[in-house]
Amino acid sequence: GALLILNGPNLNLLGTREPEIYGSATLADVELLATEAATAAGFSASCVQSNHEGVLLDAIHAARGTAVGIIINAGAYTHTSVALRDAIAAVELPTVEVHISNVHQREEFRHHSYLSAVCGTVIVGAGIHGYELAVSYLDKTLN
Ligand code: DQA
Repeated sequence: GALLILNGPNLNLLGTREPEIYGSATLADVELLATEAATAAGFSASCVQSNHEGVLLDAIHAARGTAVGIIINAGAYTHTSVALRDAIAAVELPTVEVHISNVHQREEFRHHSYLSAVCGTVIVGAGIHGYELAVSYLDKTLN
């Protein structure tokens, strides 16, 4: 089966964006790491990054019937988007929410996620290894 690996706003700037918080790996590094982990576990992977909420919504909708699971780092939309939450709930796929940084150690406005209530699993603060941990979790629970 296929995994949808979804990255939201500003994650295209990984590697140069606040490296003291997000590290030096680029989005391409993250997508390669996640794809290799997925392939090793017998999944295929489809990676999408967008700065546009509607594109993220469309990708989630398209995952219904084509993917077996979703890994999502929704960036700042995590803290604002009821629409992403509703899309995740609608497609009824196992979904892992990933944050590179430990959002709970940061500003108060990052402590609440609209997505966590509908994502079965949440991984925060593991850096980019969070994406591999998410693949590993989906491997153990789906395969
Ligand atoms: C993030 C945390 C969010 O609060 C922030 O807006 C991001 C990245 C993370 O991966 O740590 O863009 O999702």
